[in-house]
Amino acid sequence: MFIPNDNRYNMIPYRRCGRSGVLLPALSLGLWHNFGDTTPFSVQQSLLRTAFDHGITHFDLANNYGPPYGAAERNFGAHMDMDWRPHRDELFLSTKAGYDMWAGPYGNWGSRKYLISSLDQSLKRMRVDYVDLFYHHRPDPQTPIAETMGALDQIVRSGKALYIGLSNYNPEQTREAVEELNRLGTPCLIHQPRYSMLDRHIEEGLTGVLKEKQIGCIVFQPLAGGLLTGKYLNGIPEDSRMKRDNRFLKPENLTEETLRKLTALKEIADARGQKMHHLALQWVLRDEGITSALIGASRPEQITDNLEALKAPPLTAEELERIESILNN
Ligand SMILES: NC(=O)c1ccc[n+]([C@@H]2O[C@H](COP(=O)([O-])OP(=O)(O)OC[C@H]3O[C@@H](n4cnc5c(N)ncnc54)[C@H](OP(=O)(O)O)[C@@H]3O)[C@@H](O)[C@H]2O)c1
Repeated sequence: MFIPNDNRYNMIPYRRCGRSGVLLPALSLGLWHNFGDTTPFSVQQSLLRTAFDHGITHFDLANNYGPPYGAAERNFGAHMDMDWRPHRDELFLSTKAGYDMWAGPYGNWGSRKYLISSLDQSLKRMRVDYVDLFYHHRPDPQTPIAETMGALDQIVRSGKALYIGLSNYNPEQTREAVEELNRLGTPCLIHQPRYSMLDRHIEEGLTGVLKEKQIGCIVFQPLAGGLLTGKYLNGIPEDSRMKRDNRFLKPENLTEETLRKLTALKEIADARGQKMHHLALQWVLRDEGITSALIGASRPEQITDNLEALKAPPLTAEELERIESILNN
């Protein structure tokens, strides 16, 4: 039986999610990689237990996380039965639909038909009665926004999710969706965009909309899939994502420009006496408008290592300026 660490709620700061009642840990754990059928159950279990033992209460899933699609949710369901049922009310669980999930015209994008049936499937796989947060995973250019938001509103009203969120919506799409949700009376809790030192697109409008509308922001891939750990500075290690599972992180991502930036960032981290990924995590969390950084991990030590970032002294104005000039060149 899993007996969690008694001290877990003193180990990580919690940040308020926009203007809501929800607090999220500054680091959250994503189950995109390392929770499919190719990762031993015992490794998954130690990742989840380690996170929770250190106060990480938020686990993020999606219908198609695997491999194969659905496997991360199905495996999580088995963990639910083994470890988490007594702690269900201490967890903030999210899942999503919006990308390709099943064959035919109803297993993708943003129709009411897809979103509601996908969440029903997710709840069965995860072996829970409801999720805390359900996201539309990406905007659908074909479906009227009123239909997609209407489905999200209906999901909350049916009790299958407590809150709803948007992911990968641009500033204009976010504004339109949020206004429609407000009209329906189901406010948007949070937005989940990609953000890291290597991808700053959200600074060009999205963060402004989220602040204006007082919506939380949980940023995914704050370590750019591992690039910002510095592990690829001298080649591709055998035990890295790029070697073991390069569906998304490919050797082509190691461009000369990226390597130049990474090398310069490492010098700043070295001068601060910290690891490069600690610098990268501190940097995405430097603005209080960012509620949480959504990390992945292939082994439990990476989670405890990443938590060290939260104890480091804040970045100085001079360091932030140096980082700015590295990222802009
Ligand atoms: N909404 C969306 O469209 C979307 C898209 C993508 C992701 N996400 C969410 O974001 C989550 C995180 O994505 P991600 O896993 O790509 O994020 P990430 O945190 O940028 O990368 C995680 C990977 O970096 C490496 N790593 C992490 N900490 C390390 C450490 N201390 N030392 C050395 N290596 C370390 C590990 O890879 P290796 O050890 O295998 O090298 C780990 O799996 C996903 O699980 C998912 O929940 C959402």
